Amino acid sequence: MSADDEPLDELLSAARAVRENAYAPYSRFKVGAAVRGASGRIYPGCNVENVAYPEGTCAEAGAIALMIASGETEVTAVAVIADSAAPVPPCGGCRQKLAEFARHDTPVTLATTEGASLRTTVGDLLPGRFDASHMDRT
Ligand code: THU
Repeated sequence: MSADDEPLDELLSAARAVRENAYAPYSRFKVGAAVRGASGRIYPGCNVENVAYPEGTCAEAGAIALMIASGETEVTAVAVIADSAAPVPPCGGCRQKLAEFARHDTPVTLATTEGASLRTTVGDLLPGRFDASHMDRT
């Protein structure tokens, strides 16, 4: 592991740890996420399902909510982990949520509990994203 990987390892560890707390009795698919804020702080989140299925929330949404509630607005790195055969990509809604607070080149690591991982960026996950400029008529 290089010195560069160390902060990422910390982010992935946080995602892995919070995944244990996921509430997923319906899908039985636990997901952990962690975002790093510009301050360097790590904000973890897990999926929280509901018996009224659409009311469930994704791990990424929980992590972003914690970051905002803590007073930060800039995501500098993202990690997501699940017990899947291949790294699970964030859903469409979570891609838009991440794009709200991240840059095009913000790194995203998608991982499995067995150790596979895939590195991408917020921009690659959501090309052509909707942003405030699309509401501008002038
Ligand atoms: N899920 C996440 O929390 N994040 C993802 O990136 C993919 C899907 C959750 C939502 C639901 O609780 C479960 O995984 C199955 O879709």
